[in-house]
Amino acid sequence: MTGSIAAFIDALPKAELHVHLEGTLEASLKMDLARRNDHPLKESSEEAIRAGYIYHDLLSFLSLYYEGVELLLTENDFYDLCYQYLRKSASQNVLYTEMFFDPQLHTRRGIPFATVITGITRAREAAERDFGIRSQLIMCFVREMSAESADETFTQALPYLDDIVGVGLDSYETGNPPAKFAQVFARARAAGLHLTMHCDLDQENTHEHIRQALDDLASERIDHGLNVLDRPELIARARERDIVFTICPSPNDVIRPGCGRRDLRGMLDAGLRITINSDDPGYMNSAYMTECLRSAQETADLTRAELLAISRNAFASAWISDAERSHYLEALDRFAALQAEEA
Ligand code: ADE
Ligand code: ZN
Repeated sequence: MTGSIAAFIDALPKAELHVHLEGTLEASLKMDLARRNDHPLKESSEEAIRAGYIYHDLLSFLSLYYEGVELLLTENDFYDLCYQYLRKSASQNVLYTEMFFDPQLHTRRGIPFATVITGITRAREAAERDFGIRSQLIMCFVREMSAESADETFTQALPYLDDIVGVGLDSYETGNPPAKFAQVFARARAAGLHLTMHCDLDQENTHEHIRQALDDLASERIDHGLNVLDRPELIARARERDIVFTICPSPNDVIRPGCGRRDLRGMLDAGLRITINSDDPGYMNSAYMTECLRSAQETADLTRAELLAISRNAFASAWISDAERSHYLEALDRFAALQAEEA
């Protein structure tokens, strides 16, 4: 990567639309939490923790992710997790972020919903005050858990709906299609929440999952969703619905090594709208937005205009007011004009 494109990516005003808060848990915070909560850790150093991050598919990734989640116990733990992610993101010129969280992974361990969301909400407020970064929350349903459990979780969330902008669907996809959650998604939509769902790369029945997300559940975005490229009818449908795909280069590199170039170019050439995101940076070599954009730029040879369009897609499809959107898009336009003058 030439120096100047790296500097361009550093300074680019960014928005992130696909990051799991629990996946931002860094080895350093794991050590702190284990000490603080008197929780035994197998590893005795950050290096040893990171050395254990070996996975080759969604299932082996999720087992690491679920193990890490066990360290989060108190409201302050959730505060620290969220504050650290927001501080890091603000340092990378991320102006706005929509963060997934998985309440069921905590409530099933006996941690009250209120503990989780209060810690996160306090951190969001503190980070906006301290660093100017704006954020919102997307509550994910854990798809290998039952539809009844998702429904109960939505009921627990009712007193906090002002702090939640949308609902999503993540975790283990095999045998857990979007249709399993049709009722709770309908309930969320009726309550005024936005909808998105994961269709992870190369999962069983992925094309049917993408179709359900697009047609049956009328999802507003698709998280990952690269297999759309295999089916012209799905491409056509996604274009018709102007769907944004939140692409995460880091896990894709693991699941389908070396295909980043073909995948990213394929999405752009098919006229699909994409954003680039970090997913689970704590488990993926601490690749936050800047690192992810740099790697996407290198793999797919993205031009400055394409990087600007990707950032524009993120602000344009963020779940924010028109006034806020104009504010961010103007910042992006000013950045583009300045870059054009300097070129
Ligand atoms: N949970 C955390 N990261 C995830 C991902 N990329 N896909 C599905 N579930 C997840
Ligand atoms: Zn994800």
